[in-house]
Amino acid sequence: MNKTILITGAAKRIGKEIALTYRDLGWNIIIHYNSSKKDAEELAQNINSKNPGTAKIVQANLDIDSEVKRLVEESKNFFDSIDILVNNASTFYPTPIDEISDDHWMKLVGSNLKGPLFLISGLKDKLKESKGSIVNITDTNLSKGTANFSIYSAAKGGLESITKGLARELAPDITVNAIAPGAMLEPPGVEWTDEQKEKVVSNIPLKRMGCEKDIANAVKFVASAKYMTGQIIKVDGGRSLS
Ligand SMILES: NC(=O)c1ccc[n+]([C@@H]2O[C@H](COP(=O)([O-])OP(=O)(O)OC[C@H]3O[C@@H](n4cnc5c(N)ncnc54)[C@H](OP(=O)(O)O)[C@@H]3O)[C@@H](O)[C@H]2O)c1
Repeated sequence: MNKTILITGAAKRIGKEIALTYRDLGWNIIIHYNSSKKDAEELAQNINSKNPGTAKIVQANLDIDSEVKRLVEESKNFFDSIDILVNNASTFYPTPIDEISDDHWMKLVGSNLKGPLFLISGLKDKLKESKGSIVNITDTNLSKGTANFSIYSAAKGGLESITKGLARELAPDITVNAIAPGAMLEPPGVEWTDEQKEKVVSNIPLKRMGCEKDIANAVKFVASAKYMTGQIIKVDGGRSLS
């Protein structure tokens, strides 16, 4: 029986690369997306053309409770098992303290913390059956504090906290770990100048930005490391050392 991975926010960028990595392992892949329907369909086509019948797509806005519930129910019914859940979807933008609002709170906490938590809650029995793994994607910059990102930081920090708490609560059946990426890609829709890129890279001991594959490889390792739980693995070129 094929194993199954559910990746949130999988239509593009890092989530897509995780999907392609598991395509190459022959897994069933549930591609979750919110607004990127065309990209999700193209990715599913790509995967199904290599491994027929192994990719499904499912839309849900993680800010909306009823959509998270639907995502849980649809995901449970696609394949026999769910072996890995990757909470990769994220909204990322600054909220200087004078500009915080309920709306920003709902959006940033919905996709980065509340959605992932309720997704785990809804899928835990299925993951338990398969002795599965949960991989939450956080952010290496949390540990240093980032000005103007209080809501995003609270949400990702919360995701790291529940990673540790749930690692205890869901043991011994399910492992729960997090990967904290450093500077991998420019934020969606943003193009840094050469000067900005040089500044970012100058603070990274490995002297380059990361790429999608660096995170996909880390997910593959973490999800298969069955004697590791409650850990936050920084994949940041050593940025957090300096
Ligand atoms: N890129 C980096 O350098 C970097 C650095 C540190 C941490 N990270 C973390 O690594 C992960 C992947 O990064 P990325 O840059 O590839 O992510 P991204 O492009 O910013 O977001 C991934 C996907 O999240 C989905 N999403 C956003 N809001 C959503 C919502 N309300 N409901 C459902 N889905 C929603 C979007 O799906 P649709 O397009 O379908 O709407 C989007 O394509 C994220 O968790 C990010 O925080 C990335």
